[in-house]
Amino acid sequence: MTERKRVEEEIRRLKKQKNAVILAHNYQLPEVQDIADFTGDSLGLSQEAANTEADVIVFCGVHFMAETASIISPDKKVLIPDEKAGCSLADTINAEQLKNWKEENPDSVVVSYVNTTAEVKALSDYCCTSANAVQIVSSIPEEKEILFLPDMFLGAYVAKITGRKINIWPGECHVHAGIRKQDLDEMQDSHPGAEMIIHPECGCTTNLMYQAENGTSKNGDGNGNGRGHVKFLSTGGMIKHVKTSPSKEFIIATETGMLHRLRKENPDKIFHPARENAVCKYMKMITLPKVLRSLEEDIYEVKVPLHTALRAKRSIDRMLEITN
Ligand code: 13P
Ligand code: SF4
Repeated sequence: MTERKRVEEEIRRLKKQKNAVILAHNYQLPEVQDIADFTGDSLGLSQEAANTEADVIVFCGVHFMAETASIISPDKKVLIPDEKAGCSLADTINAEQLKNWKEENPDSVVVSYVNTTAEVKALSDYCCTSANAVQIVSSIPEEKEILFLPDMFLGAYVAKITGRKINIWPGECHVHAGIRKQDLDEMQDSHPGAEMIIHPECGCTTNLMYQAENGTSKNGDGNGNGRGHVKFLSTGGMIKHVKTSPSKEFIIATETGMLHRLRKENPDKIFHPARENAVCKYMKMITLPKVLRSLEEDIYEVKVPLHTALRAKRSIDRMLEITN
């Protein structure tokens, strides 16, 4: 038996013994996605964490995602296989900075993207994910001012789609911000018939808005038809869209881990990453041996203090009430 097979078998055995569930984000290494009970986007994973009957959640993702699982399921043991798996976007704003921003804008409603610490969520009115940010902002009364954080590209995208005036925190994810319009132009030139799918955290988002409004990219016909359709979607939205799209070829502008599941579930379609080196080093810190060690030694537990968890949960519950 190969070492990998041995590790996989041991993970399955321990998972059963401990009544554990393995949740993996769409950017995880292929072998980690393949051993998971559920693979999904931030919204799907938080819903799964809320519904699971398991006693232990092994969260294969980054720290704020494991925190979210702990907030939603405080009675369960939440483990992250590598405690250093952070998120550069979540690190762009801390609780102190948000307190100050709120003080400067006392009547505003705070909408925080899920890529934030539990402490930041605890100071927020609404949580949102890339899948539902537009829906959450649209649900807020027109006369209310909005503070949106921490991703400036997602914020610009939401402001454009909803037509709302939004105060946006200048944070960015280094992986998505690194995907530039030039990358997409080059890919479209090489694959002129491909449909282009973009995560709204991408740096190219703002530049491409006008194309999305027409439903086409620079190679499209201007009427939303044929060559080079453009869509902005969360990672979960990408999975759903590709299944039903008549297109056979896609350019995927997000972290490259996304392509594993897209290829696995759509073997007859062709996928190209918009940028080969759009790789989140934090997501890739989780490996199969670390998942096994996590189950063996019950490490690393992520537990949000009750006081913070209760306040953070309000913002998540408000989001789930709107989207469920
Ligand atoms: P999704 O919510 O689309 O899965 O995105 C999460 C994330 O971290 C993007 O980098
Ligand atoms: Fe954070 Fe960016 Fe990695 Fe997503 S891809 S987890 S936003 S650093």
